[in-house]
Amino acid sequence: MSTRPAAVVVLAAGEGTRMKSSIPKVLHELGGRSMIGHAVAAAAALEPEYLTVVVGHGRELVTEHLAATAPEVQTAVQDRQLGTGHAVTCALESMPDLTGVVVVTYGDVPLLTADTLRGLIELHTTDNNGVTVLTATLDDPKQYGRIVRDADGGVMGIVEFKDATDDVLRINEINSGIYAFDAQVLTDGRSRLTPDNAQGELYLTDVLAIARENGRRVGAYRTDDVWQTEGVNDRIQLADMGRELNRRTLERWMRAGVTVVDPRATWIDVAVELAEDVVLRPGVQLHGATSVGPGAEIGPDTTLTDCRVGERATVVRTHAANAEIGPDATVGPYTYLRPGAKLGPKSKAGAHVEIKASTLAEGAKVPHLSYIGDTDIGAGANIGAGTIVANYDGMAKHHTDIGDHAFIGSDSVLVAPVTIADGAYVAAGSTITDNVGPGEIAIARGKQRNVAGWVERRRAGTKTADAARRALARHTGDDETDAGSAAGDEGSGQ
Ligand code: UD1
Ligand code: CA
Repeated sequence: MSTRPAAVVVLAAGEGTRMKSSIPKVLHELGGRSMIGHAVAAAAALEPEYLTVVVGHGRELVTEHLAATAPEVQTAVQDRQLGTGHAVTCALESMPDLTGVVVVTYGDVPLLTADTLRGLIELHTTDNNGVTVLTATLDDPKQYGRIVRDADGGVMGIVEFKDATDDVLRINEINSGIYAFDAQVLTDGRSRLTPDNAQGELYLTDVLAIARENGRRVGAYRTDDVWQTEGVNDRIQLADMGRELNRRTLERWMRAGVTVVDPRATWIDVAVELAEDVVLRPGVQLHGATSVGPGAEIGPDTTLTDCRVGERATVVRTHAANAEIGPDATVGPYTYLRPGAKLGPKSKAGAHVEIKASTLAEGAKVPHLSYIGDTDIGAGANIGAGTIVANYDGMAKHHTDIGDHAFIGSDSVLVAPVTIADGAYVAAGSTITDNVGPGEIAIARGKQRNVAGWVERRRAGTKTADAARRALARHTGDDETDAGSAAGDEGSGQ
């Protein structure tokens, strides 16, 4: 059966005062996506002819956000929030001659899934209903609208909390605010709404009773998964929902073959992609469009945003954004990969290494204490501990090339722009300002000069001077007692 609706209308014009926020409620995020983003994703999966979000409070920001993240969505403006019935009317104005099923959802119910909406539409269609409402049974039905049924269990209508008698308030089946309507029933019903109620609003809920009066069947699709009907009104609910969403995301990946060592200490955005046999250790956060290949091990304590990790790579205690980590590469601990860092297969970025807008070809290694910026490093090159690429001259960034199997000695500074050729060496402690050719070694540091007796003269009476005197005495003693060994003691003491 086709469950493709003619339209989905997402209501998101309300103010959300309890968020206490300068940004509109539906732009708050969980699982790496705004609340309205979640609502739109569920709606879009149904492939409706029209997908319209009703905006009001903060509508510039919401419209801008939708244009950037979901350009297929139309928006309808509701200037004043005169009720859910009025909000739907605002959306319908741009959809003339609508026939088929119209689904209404909320922008602040982020855990609702497309599957639940499909179930709702399926029941709606099979039972030939005029309206079908998504309901849930709650121990504490709070201030939700209540589902009033007749003696045969048929849905008669919805009564709002503020209009309810004590008898009605005892009903614990609640209106989620999510519905499937026959388009005709909706357009006809909403034109007959009146604000004749406790809140003086046009209630969308009244369309159910109107439909029934007109002889149409009204049904309820009851879900056991109450999270899917729950709205977010404050930041406490936002955190609760975020945790539940994360739990669901992790379960999905564990079923797909991912090991999550501690699900309570692992956070994964909804758009992240993980392969089989990925291992996520405690303290891992994967954000945005991050993807991780088969057998890769991430963590502990690693945050990756919009990163691509290849198969079997290991990434330990690392912070990375917009970076690519190739297959079998090893990263960490304490590594910072910034946008444009591209680590090739079997390459290494080790402890206290920062890399930005740079590539490491296959097997290249930056094992310790380095900054690498705007640099291409060739295959098998080794960058010694403490090497710094000085890519910024205070005005502009410059490029550095390091060739295949080049060897950069520890504590060198490569002042960009500069090229170290394939198979070239740089001596430890060099400051390199000129290109180094293939097979050359560049030595760019002060030549060492040892001054004998300096400590005795200038630091007389210190522990250092004492130690020097003892060492010298021992040395002399050695020579005296074992004079014959000097010939075989090549190079020592020179
Ligand atoms: C509504 C339902 C109630 C249901 C509850 C579920 C009505 C009359 N009542 O009540 O039965 O149990 O939702 O959460 O429909 N909105 C607009 N424009 C408006 C008013 C609301 O876009 O003029 C949007 C809000 O942004 C929100 C949604 O509609 O996303 C629900 O609005 P809200 O004020 O929370 O409705 P409730 O009074 O809670
Ligand atoms: Ca509400």
